[in-house]
Amino acid sequence: MGSMLKMLNSSIGQKVIMSLTGLFLCSFLLVHVSGNLQLFKDDHGLAFNQYTVFMTTFTPIKIVSYLLYATILIHAINSLLLTMANRKARAVGYQSRKDPRSSSWASKNMGILGTILLIFLITHMANFWYQYKFGDTPWAEYSVDLNSGMVLGEPIVIEGEDLHPHEYVRTDASGNEVNVVVVKNLYAVVKEAFTQPLLVVLYLIGMIALAYHMVHGFQSSFQTLGIRHNTYTPLIRGIGIWLFGIIIPLLFAAMPVYFFLQL
Ligand code: HEM
Repeated sequence: MGSMLKMLNSSIGQKVIMSLTGLFLCSFLLVHVSGNLQLFKDDHGLAFNQYTVFMTTFTPIKIVSYLLYATILIHAINSLLLTMANRKARAVGYQSRKDPRSSSWASKNMGILGTILLIFLITHMANFWYQYKFGDTPWAEYSVDLNSGMVLGEPIVIEGEDLHPHEYVRTDASGNEVNVVVVKNLYAVVKEAFTQPLLVVLYLIGMIALAYHMVHGFQSSFQTLGIRHNTYTPLIRGIGIWLFGIIIPLLFAAMPVYFFLQL
């Protein structure tokens, strides 16, 4: 136990913590971007709002969420400690500590990129996560045609004490069966938020930082964990660059742009 703690406290131990927490955050990004793709659906936000209910009420996912918050904190605090330790080592003195492997712009600026991401994340959580959990997100009632599955127009805003997500079937005046879905309308909050040009710019800067952070971070975490292989290393590098460094940041960036331009 003592030697385990010693290892975790050492510089290599801290790098291992960065790698493992970073990879966990990458898996979150994959889930988050896939879920958020529902924002692009032409259904007045129903699928997105239902997905949010699932993510915030299904117990196993709630537990993973707490793990996620802890992981973000550990990753951020640990990176600060590592940067400070590196600075100290440099001040003591070796100028020629250049490691040719990690001399890309992104690798040298992981601290700055991470700081931009942290600012992005704090704003992001305040805008959506806090708003959903503790703010006054409006409630909406959707009507869905049971035969075609089509959402029948804009949802109705509903108010009242003690509302909770639920659905039921009713028959309308023409005898059609309609599924009525009552949910918090986080979609409306997202749509409204992205009418603000400053917020859209912050998101775009955040996604550029995410792209650079990922291009270096993903493959570097495998290196730290000692995973090196003639076949797999190029594959890992490809996934890091294409999936995490290009596709995911572009998809995220498309969301504020989509609402801002009202596409
Ligand atoms: C740019 C497009 C994005 C949109 C539209 C978006 C939207 C949302 C919304 C609506 C929520 C609150 C509801 C929920 O928990 O699902 C949320 C939560 C969250 N988002 Fe995002 N997000 C985006 C990008 C990102 C990025 C790039 C990151 C990380 C770098 C991120 C990290 C988080 C975290 C950590 C939470 C809290 C998750 C939880 O409580 O389980 N988001 N996001």
